[in-house]
Amino acid sequence: MAPGSQIQSANDSVRALQWVDDGLRVLDQRKLPAVIEYETCTTAQSVAEAIASMRVRGAPAIGIAAAYGVVLAARERYRQDSGNWKESIRQDLDVLAASRPTAVNLCWAIDRMREVIALAEGDPCVALLGAATAIHDDDIAANRRMGELGSALLGGASGVLTHCNTGSLATGGYGTALGVIRSGWKAGLKKVYAAETRPWLQGARLTAWELDQDRIPATLIADSAAAYLMRSGAVQWVIVGADRIAANGDTANKIGTYSLAVNARHHGVKFMVVAPTSTIDWGTASGEAIAIEERDKKELLGDYFLQEGRLIDAWNPVFDVTPARLIDVIVTERGVVLDPDAKSLQGLAGARPMMR
Ligand code: MRU
Repeated sequence: MAPGSQIQSANDSVRALQWVDDGLRVLDQRKLPAVIEYETCTTAQSVAEAIASMRVRGAPAIGIAAAYGVVLAARERYRQDSGNWKESIRQDLDVLAASRPTAVNLCWAIDRMREVIALAEGDPCVALLGAATAIHDDDIAANRRMGELGSALLGGASGVLTHCNTGSLATGGYGTALGVIRSGWKAGLKKVYAAETRPWLQGARLTAWELDQDRIPATLIADSAAAYLMRSGAVQWVIVGADRIAANGDTANKIGTYSLAVNARHHGVKFMVVAPTSTIDWGTASGEAIAIEERDKKELLGDYFLQEGRLIDAWNPVFDVTPARLIDVIVTERGVVLDPDAKSLQGLAGARPMMR
């Protein structure tokens, strides 16, 4: 199927997900920047595994990959038993939905695919591939729109700070927070700082690599340098993405985001969250109810402390929740919400149909 807006453009050359005839081609993000290696997932299980192991990561990219995973599941289940595939595919949808807990785009995308499954008659593959491609194309279009809306808010800022990776690697293409930075850079933004984002180093490995590929200069900082950077006056905005936004605007994002928001407020630096409306979880009233993924302590402990008999443990939450009151603006493809709260965010709810 010919991709629509998935085609790369100037200063947006990276694509982490690509549908090919036999499956979903994914760029292994665990190996970047040293190694550029693609593999093709040909089953729903292998897509789920790619998400759980973080070859594919970033909330929108996880949702897109899962949608293509549903296509692969349907292809196999329909081939095995064309009379019973709607029943048997359920277990594949459950495996995909369980692959990571915090990014709500995952369940959002699977729910859209469920709607297509419910209506399918005969071979569902063409309809499901059309739906997955639409999710992919819509995401890039949303990112480009958010890039325009968000960069228009920067008001001549000389410097911005971002966290994690929210670019083409984390989405269908262009990026959310990094899309705003991409658009801002085209409009004259001078200085981009990226926090390294321990322990997975999405900033130091992925954002740095992606910006370098697109010839956008950036300066890397240790996460712990952020408050000092803000105090220096070098940045006027912190710009981040989101994995799940509750109905009151509380925002779950990569661990360390909350700390940046507290520091930003203290230093008079503005705080922007950029996410498509597919990241808003209207069924979750506040951040209290958002499930926060905790990953293996091995990601923090080195071999020495993993040895039998050592007394050092680790706690490894990989997301945190920033309360809405610390967020100056949420940028979506449907519009911008200043000082978000349950009431102001509702203005986007009526515009919920990002669906086709
Ligand atoms: O653990 P990751 O790398 O999947 O976490 C990614 C983030 O926290 C991003 O900020 C978020 O998914 C938004 S990506 C556009």
